[in-house]
Amino acid sequence: MAGGGERGGGAGLPESREHLFKVLVIGELGVGKTSIIKRYVHQLFSQHYRATIGVDFALKVLNWDSRTLVRLQLWDIAGQERFGNMTRVYYKEAVGAFVVFDVTRGSTFEAVSKWKHDLDSKVLLPNGSPIPAVLIANKCDQKKDSGQNPSQMDQFCKEGGFAGWFETSAKDNINIDEAARFLVENILANLKAFPSEENDVGRLKLEPGPLTAESKPQCC
Ligand code: GTP
Ligand code: MG
Repeated sequence: MAGGGERGGGAGLPESREHLFKVLVIGELGVGKTSIIKRYVHQLFSQHYRATIGVDFALKVLNWDSRTLVRLQLWDIAGQERFGNMTRVYYKEAVGAFVVFDVTRGSTFEAVSKWKHDLDSKVLLPNGSPIPAVLIANKCDQKKDSGQNPSQMDQFCKEGGFAGWFETSAKDNINIDEAARFLVENILANLKAFPSEENDVGRLKLEPGPLTAESKPQCC
């Protein structure tokens, strides 16, 4: 099934739209990417840490408004992949990203710029601009490791090309829905600004179909 496109419109029926957006979740090992996705999609949280190997997938369906259905295909990319050579393959055709760090570990914040650089160097929107990225300061239920104050974070986002930032907790379910909503708003705004055939992210298939040897994720 291909997402995107419009239905209805005839016989006085309101137009309905469906979008399928590929969204990346990236950041250092153990920052909580998988936990954020599990919380967002399945309303579950576990203290148990099991590192993701390669990439994992999840689908979240949003009734965006009365006429619009949004399917988010979430690509949960293992932290250790920054040192691998598969990210170019994983990032392909993504239209949005979360870049996650752990507020209890300053080193994970320092790595945010490396992830963002990796992202911008490997995937762009069809109009040539970077895909919208939202910075996620996760584990805000815990004590911060020094860190930035809100105005420094605003400045960091401006300079680093992030659409915005959110403090989240997968454990206590804080701000995850809000961050996702913000990212989708940004993705939809891009779609409105550049509604060309080329930019029709609906081309993305829900079922990736047979993968070539080159594009096959290492694991899921
Ligand atoms: P990789 O797959 O190795 O890249 O890690 P990841 O980013 O997917 O991290 P994961 O979601 O597996 O979480 C790592 C550890 O942090 C686990 O023990 C989680 O329980 C814990 N954790 C994740 N989110 C939170 C949070 O919001 N608060 C607290 N206190 N712990 C969290
Ligand atoms: Mg993981």
